[in-house]
Amino acid sequence: MASAEQVIAFRAWVANTGVVWVDHLAPQFRDYLGKKASNDNTLEFFSKNPALATRELSEIVSKTATRATFRVTSDEYRNPANAPDGFENTSIQTFKSDKTRRYNDEFEGNFYRYSQPIYVQESCLKCHGDPKDAPADVITKYGDKRAFGYKVGDVRGIISIKLPNLTVIDVLLTLLNPYTIGLIVLAFLLNFLFTHVAIIKRLKELSLTTERIAQGELDLALRVNPNSRDEIDNVGHTIDLLRNSLVVAMNRLRKNLS
Ligand code: HEC
Repeated sequence: MASAEQVIAFRAWVANTGVVWVDHLAPQFRDYLGKKASNDNTLEFFSKNPALATRELSEIVSKTATRATFRVTSDEYRNPANAPDGFENTSIQTFKSDKTRRYNDEFEGNFYRYSQPIYVQESCLKCHGDPKDAPADVITKYGDKRAFGYKVGDVRGIISIKLPNLTVIDVLLTLLNPYTIGLIVLAFLLNFLFTHVAIIKRLKELSLTTERIAQGELDLALRVNPNSRDEIDNVGHTIDLLRNSLVVAMNRLRKNLS
């Protein structure tokens, strides 16, 4: 799933730089791992580790139109807010016992649940390998027991995505707004206008030809389409038949007279 790949890429970017430092905390995102001041003490910086940055990204995404939520969780979670639920626990165990599994998914009530394993990479070991290598900030905030001792390639956790399971009706309802309705009405009007103009043009042509036949131009070719047989073509055919009968009748008349 493309969004899972994007999240993993985003995390890898944060992990490769260790943490990201921000120069202030947005009101809705107060959490941080550590902080430090600039040398002259005029500025203060806060660090955000990959899991934290992902959580904040997820919160932003969940407010967008798709209402998708994603999060990172693990059986060895450090932050209680990241504790896995039933589906997530099953997924973690599945990925741990079968390293070839790429994803796990299911429908749960009104939601589609999807998960993908997160494997430990070199860049993660700094904070999830030997606690001795870990930044002091991590030890201060979470201690040296949880989520350490991983090796490259281990299943560290999962990225878990939850999508509202939209029905066809939901999708149709989103179409019910003045803008789309206006477009549909406009399309009907244009369609009506075009066919209308075309019909009037053909009827005019037919009546002109019929008029000339009536005035004696008996071998005038009627432009009748032999393949299409709509109402106007039918009238054309009938006029053609009438003209033929007229020619035959006149020939007979001439013979009788001579
Ligand atoms: C700078 C230190 C640091 C690095 C580097 C780091 N992590 Fe973490 N990780 C943490 C901290 C601290 C948490 C605690 C949870 C939080 O802050 O939300 C965490 C949490 C997690 C969690 C969620 C479960 C939990 O413990 O709450 C997963 C999964 C995870 N990390 C995987 C990774 C992976 C995979 C990498 C490498 C790509 C990585 N981490 C790199 C510090 C780090």
